[in-house]
Amino acid sequence: MPVLDKLILVGGKRLEGTVQISGSKNAVLPIMAASLLADGTYTFGNVPRLRDVRTMQKLIENMGISVTLDGHTLRIYSQPCEHCEAPYDQVKTMRASIYVLGPLVGRFGRARVSLPGGCAWGPRPVNLHIDGLTRLGAKIHFEKGYIVASARRLKGARVSFDIPSVGATGNILMACVLARGTTVIENAAREPEITALAGFLNRMGARIEGIGTSRLEIEGVDELHPADTDVIPDRIETGTFLAASHLTGGDVTLEKTSPALVNSILDKLRIAGAEITETDEQIRIKSDRSIRPVDVTTSVYPGFPTDMQAQWMALMSIADGSSVITDTIYSDRFTHVAELRRLGANITLDHNVAVVKGVRTLSGAPVMSTDLRASASLILAGLVAKGRTDVSRVYHIDRGYETIEKKLQMLGAEIWREQEKLVV
Ligand code: EPZ
Repeated sequence: MPVLDKLILVGGKRLEGTVQISGSKNAVLPIMAASLLADGTYTFGNVPRLRDVRTMQKLIENMGISVTLDGHTLRIYSQPCEHCEAPYDQVKTMRASIYVLGPLVGRFGRARVSLPGGCAWGPRPVNLHIDGLTRLGAKIHFEKGYIVASARRLKGARVSFDIPSVGATGNILMACVLARGTTVIENAAREPEITALAGFLNRMGARIEGIGTSRLEIEGVDELHPADTDVIPDRIETGTFLAASHLTGGDVTLEKTSPALVNSILDKLRIAGAEITETDEQIRIKSDRSIRPVDVTTSVYPGFPTDMQAQWMALMSIADGSSVITDTIYSDRFTHVAELRRLGANITLDHNVAVVKGVRTLSGAPVMSTDLRASASLILAGLVAKGRTDVSRVYHIDRGYETIEKKLQMLGAEIWREQEKLVV
């Protein structure tokens, strides 16, 4: 009988104290894939202990590379991959598996990577990854749900994205650093995780210019070498704990983070009534019990991140008034709405626009996680809902938050984990 964990919360506790933010899930996954680009030993610090990190570890171990995770230090011993393949049973659990495609084609000239399926909130296309690799000279066809790519040696080209895709930018970057000649990526993603990846690749001997801007120029080199790095803080975990504290009228200090990564979230929280003080690596957020309604429209970095949309909706569900939340990145990332409504939230949804009418209180109920950030949204709501809230299928949350219940317990939340026996 399958056993799935669930998190139980009893709402009403004010969060206070200090919490340490973990390294960024979305930063560590591409640099793990980058270790395919050069043989030798890599040491990564501040690595978050997450299901997705283990998935990526298994993926590159399948290619003959050995990986050890000791505490928050990941060591990779890279060597030429025996078979350059990412099988469906792994890719289906994590879309970011596609990050191995670029380095495999760029270094070994061949790759067989399963097409990522959809996810809880809809199709997740990879056309920009494919088009970019084709521009660099890769021959690509599809068979039995797999992307099959081959190339003698990729050749630098101009790659222009019609959407500043995070994943496609990362993949094309890792593909072209060993190409012959120069590549220009136009309309590149500027997310901090891509900036960190580009910096890491340069430490490996790549020649990337324009880092942090939407135009990257990469002069291909013949060989790279391993490098070490510390993973940047997770800006979405940071935003999630900031929202959790404001929701409960708390007083919380976040350590090992970086305010510069979350300015758009801090701006919105100040308008929502939070008092925020910052140092280079800490953020303190103090709130009274009132939450002002604040409209949010998600956009690419440095705008308000789509990965905070669900958490912001939980916060606005008990605000003193109405707010409008629009997701311009994913038009269907709203599976959390139905579950929040079960807790008493008053939300109307029209395509990618949600109108949230703040209610005085939410009331606890059993709810189900559907994806990573929807789970975070339900946990936030459970922190303030009257009575008990059971959030089931929290394997979703374990993908992107390291021991979230322990961190919240340390801040005074009444939350614990139980095993749920599924009746099948
Ligand atoms: C990354 O996903 C993140 N994941 C996502 O975080 C995040 O929501 C997303 O960027 C947007 O910021 C990782 O970094 C591992 P995109 P990615 O390519 O790269 C469309 C989380 O919660 N698109 O920037 O897959 C796409 O449909 C996860 O941590 C194409 O049309 O996102 C979307 O509408 C969830 N064709 C938009 O671009 C493509 O080939 C942005 O997607 C690729 C993307």
